[in-house]
Amino acid sequence: MSNRTLIRGGLVITAAEETYADVLIEDGRIAALAASGSEAARAWTAERVIDATDKYVIPGGVDAHTHMEFPFGGTASSDTFETGTRAAAWGGTTTIVDFAVQSVGRSLREGLDAYHAKTDGTCAIDYAFHMIVSDVDESSLKEMDGLVGEGVTSFKLFTAYPGVFYSDDGKILRAMQKAATNGALIMMHAENGIAIDVLVQQALARGDTDPRHHGEVRRALLEAEATHRVIQLARVAEAPLYVVHVSAEEAVAELAAARDKGLPVFGETCPQYLFLSTDNLAEPDFEGAKYVCSTPLRPREHQAALWRGLRTDDLQVVSTDHCPFCFTGQKELGRGDFSKIPNGLPGVENRMDLLHQAVVDGRITRRRWIEIACAAPARMFGFYGKKGTIAPGADADVVIYDPAAEQTMSAATHHMNVDYSAYEGKRVRGQVETVLSRGELVLERREFRGRAGHGAFVPRGLTQYVN
Ligand code: URP
Ligand code: ZN
Ligand code: ZN
Ligand code: ZN
Repeated sequence: MSNRTLIRGGLVITAAEETYADVLIEDGRIAALAASGSEAARAWTAERVIDATDKYVIPGGVDAHTHMEFPFGGTASSDTFETGTRAAAWGGTTTIVDFAVQSVGRSLREGLDAYHAKTDGTCAIDYAFHMIVSDVDESSLKEMDGLVGEGVTSFKLFTAYPGVFYSDDGKILRAMQKAATNGALIMMHAENGIAIDVLVQQALARGDTDPRHHGEVRRALLEAEATHRVIQLARVAEAPLYVVHVSAEEAVAELAAARDKGLPVFGETCPQYLFLSTDNLAEPDFEGAKYVCSTPLRPREHQAALWRGLRTDDLQVVSTDHCPFCFTGQKELGRGDFSKIPNGLPGVENRMDLLHQAVVDGRITRRRWIEIACAAPARMFGFYGKKGTIAPGADADVVIYDPAAEQTMSAATHHMNVDYSAYEGKRVRGQVETVLSRGELVLERREFRGRAGHGAFVPRGLTQYVN
């Protein structure tokens, strides 16, 4: 007998519609939906019935930008794939797309194999990889074709971090030209890292060593300049472009201008840029280090442009860029020198709830919430239909969400392996109640039922985004 689950009586929300429907799950997939109370729905039976009355039934979140156990800044991010995917599930995310890393002088193959080794048998939820290309040359360009065939269809390059991940314009152009031929999507970290490094040295020489100076030297203009430049390079290469972690109003304007011309240019922002600001970076006693990430947090005035971009579709995706470092022993590496603070913020567990709070606050609609957090990232990275929606044939990655629950975000109660919360004390309305991954319970009424090794690698197709 097949393995059936029935979710009864909830409001099913996808990016396209909202309906009171019962959802039938069979062998890990969505088998059918039918109006709650209808004859068809009443005829269904299942081994497990979940009552979703007064709850939302939403697709599991797709977080297209995470860094678990990521070697960076002389240390490694503090969530492993095991702890990080568990925390993701607690927060209603059922798929992550993490970044495999090519080291300079090594092949893409070696980098990708190392990440498969880290994730094999460890993840609680499904996962896919982008590939960070650190060393663009004849052989790595050739390898990109092979990776596309293996379902690694997106590649991140950097105009920032000289000496680490930085690529010059010629290398970026060559990677984009390759993407134009094999259908891959190039993701860009767009900040002028060469100019920023000059400003960093000048600030340190002046004695400006506190975390807030991290935000000051990584100027919004230098994000906008790099964004403008990579858009032009993508036009020359005739390749689509996805700009990650957009934080500056001026960078949003560059994306909007390109999109107004009809160019296939896309943008992502993150909860930290929508909810936090340079006020956090300025917190005393080195507490500002908790908020050091790149691109940096901006003055609060930038947030309106980000929210507007999410409403007008000049920004398509909200991912976390989850890259946690403990305050004790990791962020502290940069006491007396902000440039030595490992860059990154925790958030994989908080994204769905923070965006639901934006629904409560009237900033976005419920369907837009599901679009930017589930459907668009799945479409952008080539696995929509399997993930990102609730429809017959899709993987049964489903979240029962209680829109009326109240919670206070805190390191004392979160499940991420990091000793602080970027949102400590923040009260939000809405909470994940139950989570299914391919039909299996991962969270049941806020009891963890998942296991390391349930999560499987998701090979991806080419981007399904055209405009
Ligand atoms: O500060 C950040 N964003 N850390 C992660 C690495 C990156 O650039 O995405
Ligand atoms: Zn980046
Ligand atoms: Zn411009
Ligand atoms: Zn990142």
